[in-house]
Amino acid sequence: MDTVAVRLTALRRRHGPLTALDGVDLEVRAGIFVAVMGPSGSGKSTLLQCAAGLDRPTSGTVEVGGTELTGLSERRLTLLRRERIGFVFQAFNLLPSLSAAQNIALPLRLAGRRPSRTEIRGALARVGLADRAAHRPGELSGGQQQRVALARALVSRPAVLFGDEPTGALDTGTSRQVLGLLRGLVDQEGQTTVMVTHDPVAASYADRVVFLVDGRITSELRAPGAGAVAERMAALESTTGGDGGRGAGGDRAAGGDRAARVGSDQEHGR
Ligand SMILES: Nc1ncnc2c1ncn2[C@@H]1O[C@H](COP(=O)(O)OP(=O)(O)OP(=O)(O)O)[C@@H](O)[C@H]1O
Ligand SMILES: [Mg+2]
Repeated sequence: MDTVAVRLTALRRRHGPLTALDGVDLEVRAGIFVAVMGPSGSGKSTLLQCAAGLDRPTSGTVEVGGTELTGLSERRLTLLRRERIGFVFQAFNLLPSLSAAQNIALPLRLAGRRPSRTEIRGALARVGLADRAAHRPGELSGGQQQRVALARALVSRPAVLFGDEPTGALDTGTSRQVLGLLRGLVDQEGQTTVMVTHDPVAASYADRVVFLVDGRITSELRAPGAGAVAERMAALESTTGGDGGRGAGGDRAAGGDRAARVGSDQEHGR
């Protein structure tokens, strides 16, 4: 039987008069890789932050790994985030003075656990960095730093891994490596993953791509190729003017030329 790893019901998030999420319903089955796309300002980060317990919705409910988040106290929510939820950001957010191994150990230490060497080595090995344990972030490439961040997010064996544009700061080749790694974690370990991305090629690594417009999920594609995703995005952006028509934070309304670039990019043939 399928289990639901994430369930969002009638999710709304307002900032004063602005509605960032306007009634989102979404179920993510365990062991599935979902990409979230949409024009800049459409609410993707807000959706992810609410789903990961980093932000509180104005109304509606969030369930992760069978636990309803919305009623939890701050303390319980923090514990649940540490134990059940992994999060990677576009900026890797590693502590520069700590080694890769120490960065990975940090969330467990914060949870009052003393991680074993085997556990940390295992986490590094899962992201292909077994030989970089002692390196500091400044001694690692961008892709390697993101892989350390990924190992840190995965070390607690979270029910769900969330990524907000995790490949947004990486070049094409490095980005594909990280995406291949994410895909492998889903396929080999059943790691439920929800990733926001602007890149149709990145989205094509997912099993499902959901499209957000003006704080609502308007459509979705199942296991699409990059071309189909780029086409859908171009269509959305031509109807919304590239910024959800709301003018807020739209400095990256780059969907058009992104789609054009991706048009010639080969699908990765997973
Ligand atoms: N803390 C906040 N205060 C006020 N408005 C906010 C806040 N956070 C987000 N918003 C607004 O909510 C809307 C959705 O923002 P969000 O960051 O979720 O968009 P996004 O889809 O992730 O965009 P991008 O692709 O540019 O990252 C935007 O109009 C944004 O300006
Ligand atoms: Mg965002």
